Amino acid sequence: MIVITERLLLTPVTIADADADADADADDVMLLHSDPNVSYWHAGTWSAAHAHEWADAMAQRWQQEGIGKWMARLRSDGTLVGRGGLTRFDIAGAETLELGWTLRDAARGHGYATEIGRAALDLAFEDLQAERVVAFTEVHNHASQAVMRRLGMRPRGLLHRSGLVEGAGRSSRERSLRPLRLRQHPSRRVSLAERRPRRRALDG
Ligand SMILES: CC(C)(COP(=O)(O)OP(=O)(O)OC[C@H]1O[C@@H](n2cnc3c(N)ncnc32)[C@H](O)[C@@H]1OP(=O)(O)O)[C@@H](O)C(=O)NCCC(=O)NCCS
Repeated sequence: MIVITERLLLTPVTIADADADADADADDVMLLHSDPNVSYWHAGTWSAAHAHEWADAMAQRWQQEGIGKWMARLRSDGTLVGRGGLTRFDIAGAETLELGWTLRDAARGHGYATEIGRAALDLAFEDLQAERVVAFTEVHNHASQAVMRRLGMRPRGLLHRSGLVEGAGRSSRERSLRPLRLRQHPSRRVSLAERRPRRRALDG
């Protein structure tokens, strides 16, 4: 489902035919994941093959599950802003919707992740009749947690998943001199936040 917000055009991730010359979304996903801040939080830059695989999987989710992540581009001139939106997600056997966002480094600080998030929450609660939407991120990803707060999501605790943790074993002096390093860890703690639909006013 295509969504148009105040500043953004949100389009489902699609994959080009095998004989097409270019694969716009997969190419843009690779571009997005070549940005330093994005690759920092996503375990390095993505190869063309990885970007294509991710885009292919997301396109299939749209087809099979009716929902998936969007590519986000500026309405004004088509500039790539990032990706984000909803995917179906299982927490302890209960199906829910997971909301996420990743912006190009140059697109941070303009409220675009919050704009993507608002559009996704509207879709979840108004069209998909969702009972809740969750989001999660590393416990030290304060920028992502700030987006959750701006969207009215409330902290719901910690999950353990494989992924990135802060580098360890360096003194506080070393930490202040060097950029923080993230490492893959089989059991990282991620903070989970949740939004439920607002109660609608009852008529009469
Ligand atoms: C997490 C991430 C999406 C947050 O991006 P962000 O730009 O900080 O978040 P928003 O798009 O909501 O923008 C909010 C900021 O824009 C500012 N802003 C400027 N113009 C604005 C406008 N017109 N409307 C709303 N906010 C605006 C806000 O004041 C806020 O600034 P602040 O952070 O200094 O308070 C981004 O840092 C990112 O992509 N990180 C890398 C990938 C990642 O970590 N993804 C999450 C994995 S779980």
